[in-house]
Amino acid sequence: PEDIRVYEFAEKINHPISDVIKVLFNLGMMVTKNDFLGKDEIEILAEEFEVEVTTIDPTNAFNYEEEYVEAESEEHLEERPPVITIMGHVDHGKTSLLDAIRNARVAHGEAGGITQHIGAYTVEQRDKKITFIDTPGHAAFSAMRERGAQATDIVIIVVAADDGVKPQTIEAIKHAKASKAPIIVAVNKMDKEGANPDLVKGQMAEHEVSPIDWGGDVEFVPVSAKTGEGIDDLLDNILLTAEVMELTANPEAAAKAVVVESSVEKGRGPVGTVIVQNGTLSVGDNVVCGKAFGRVRSLINDQGQQIKVLGPSETAVVVGLNEVPAAGDIMIAMESDKEAREYAQKRAEYERQKELSASTKTSLDELTALI
Ligand code: GTP
Ligand code: MG
Repeated sequence: PEDIRVYEFAEKINHPISDVIKVLFNLGMMVTKNDFLGKDEIEILAEEFEVEVTTIDPTNAFNYEEEYVEAESEEHLEERPPVITIMGHVDHGKTSLLDAIRNARVAHGEAGGITQHIGAYTVEQRDKKITFIDTPGHAAFSAMRERGAQATDIVIIVVAADDGVKPQTIEAIKHAKASKAPIIVAVNKMDKEGANPDLVKGQMAEHEVSPIDWGGDVEFVPVSAKTGEGIDDLLDNILLTAEVMELTANPEAAAKAVVVESSVEKGRGPVGTVIVQNGTLSVGDNVVCGKAFGRVRSLINDQGQQIKVLGPSETAVVVGLNEVPAAGDIMIAMESDKEAREYAQKRAEYERQKELSASTKTSLDELTALI
């Protein structure tokens, strides 16, 4: 609730910003349009403008999580691989970079160079794993964050060295900063004539992404998705950043995974690409996943192989759900089929309520989601 600004509230209730400010001013509160509103202020405003405001606790949606995911005692925690998202301006080379990394690092024997679309994949560098989420688009990224499903440990912002900072680069910076994930800048297309990495550094610094060699705290790695130059450096930088973060999970716990992509596939039905955040997901597990539930029929890794178990930060396509989950949904392994079904029903009911309240009232939850 503290995340709602005056102008957003005004927009939401269809009143001029000045009216909202006036009401608060008359009560002795000086605010400007960008100030955040507290719960009390929202209540006062709701009464004044005769709108009904419901407080929906977003964590309700995940109550199955609270019941099932116990606080981990430190002794069970083990190091886990970092999960990376690549963002950047259109045509700056996100897809090319993901392909270059995958082609350079994925185990051989695969159809060389042909990259069919996959939601996420894991590569190895110096015997350490790194998981990449295929660029989900900024909207999907924020949707995941809003659902409390922080799927990314480190954000890589790609900037073409011959084009510099562009509107979607700035968007990417905003999303990365909001997610609090450390940023690494990949200065791509270094092979091109007119590549100017210093210009990129200067422009990024203007947006508070300051290069380490300029006294800042962000690593800028020159790369070329075309020639493969710098890819090794980029992966090493990811590992270094991850090491400092001390990312851990408990492989013994009940599985908790986040959906990064979903679809209906011929012969497989509803499927979701997940990344395990804690525990180990196994074939045969009963799972709830948002409104969906089911029994894990098979797990297919990023190389199309059937696997039996999926550990922390690893990724696979889960087959066996009764309906398509949404990106950002949390999948939890449960004791029984009955439980999974019940939690899925509760979740569906919650969403139905939320929709109803959204159509008739202004919900705080929705206001927050606007940011
Ligand atoms: P969108 O998904 O449309 O936002 O683009 P993207 O960021 O995924 O860029 P993509 O990988 O599709 O690359 C855009 C164009 O730049 C393609 O024509 C690539 O071949 C080219 N390109 C990408 N990386 C490099 C590079 O390192 N060097 C050169 N010369 N061209 C590159
Ligand atoms: Mg692309």
